[in-house]
Amino acid sequence: MPAFTASAPGKIILFGEHAVVYGQPAIAVPLSQVRARAVVTANLPAGQKGIAHPVSPQPGLSSVIVDAPDISLRTTLADLPAQHPLARAVLLVFEALGVSQPPSCSVRIRSTIPLASGLGSGAAVSVAVIRALSAFLGHPLPLEQVSALAFEVEKIHHGTPSGIDNSVVTFNKPVYYQRGRPVEILKLPAAFHILVANSGVPSPTAVVVGDVRRGWQADPSGYEAQFAAIGDLSRQARQLIESGSPHSLGPLMFQNHALLSQLDVSYPQLDALVEAARDSGALGAKMSGGGRGGAMIALVQEQNAARVAAALQEAGAANVIRTKVGKSGKQVDK
Ligand code: MEV
Repeated sequence: MPAFTASAPGKIILFGEHAVVYGQPAIAVPLSQVRARAVVTANLPAGQKGIAHPVSPQPGLSSVIVDAPDISLRTTLADLPAQHPLARAVLLVFEALGVSQPPSCSVRIRSTIPLASGLGSGAAVSVAVIRALSAFLGHPLPLEQVSALAFEVEKIHHGTPSGIDNSVVTFNKPVYYQRGRPVEILKLPAAFHILVANSGVPSPTAVVVGDVRRGWQADPSGYEAQFAAIGDLSRQARQLIESGSPHSLGPLMFQNHALLSQLDVSYPQLDALVEAARDSGALGAKMSGGGRGGAMIALVQEQNAARVAAALQEAGAANVIRTKVGKSGKQVDK
């Protein structure tokens, strides 16, 4: 039986993180330079080369191997807690396809997306697993359903996810996203350049999303005013992007960062990187994703990209990725 492979990109949020959980619009784009990949293969009968884990030959949860070397995990589905994100993704596919006795197979996951960095690692892994496993089972799921299943796994990663990560990663296109509305694919008449710097400080999104929720519960009207201001920035940004003026986004990015700082989801390292980007001539910069660590992004003119990237590294970025969004940018699945 052939191997079934699927991959999914990372993502960056250009505008609207956190506010999007409370119904405001946000904008996200795929980040194809980092990816998660899942490969599903049938297990060979016992004794044959290729099996390094005792596995039941009988169909069932003990016959499914989950192999994720990046997190030093190799076990059977029967031995993985059902609430583990990888187990959840696999079990959701079996459930969706009515598979009660899973065939003996291995699901191998590799990812180059740094964990807990705001770059959508959880969503990308889920989407890759769901697509590869459903294809292996002979029923590749439509993208809407892939996204809906990945959203269920996001609840483990984010607590109360908005759905933006699973949407942008599944559709692999720039999206304008508002909870409860159909995902809108953004038109990008003009390309623009973004630098993505990782602060090197891991920060699980669920923790930050939970803190914001407690803040909102304590002061609903104060938080909602901040969320609404962020939502306005997303709307203005959409207009600029779709009218071919992405280079005017800079001031909106700085404003979005300031509003996120007021929500207490930024972090000294992220603030330092945003300042380094500003001082070295970036058009705009902000933290991106859950915050309190993880990634920040800077909008740059092509001719200034190397200078800003050097400044970000100088200011302590663990690494810097350069991506082109739009027209000839790498916004298509490989
Ligand atoms: C995480 O990428 C974005 C957040 O807004 C959470 C979410 O939307 O689920 C922080």
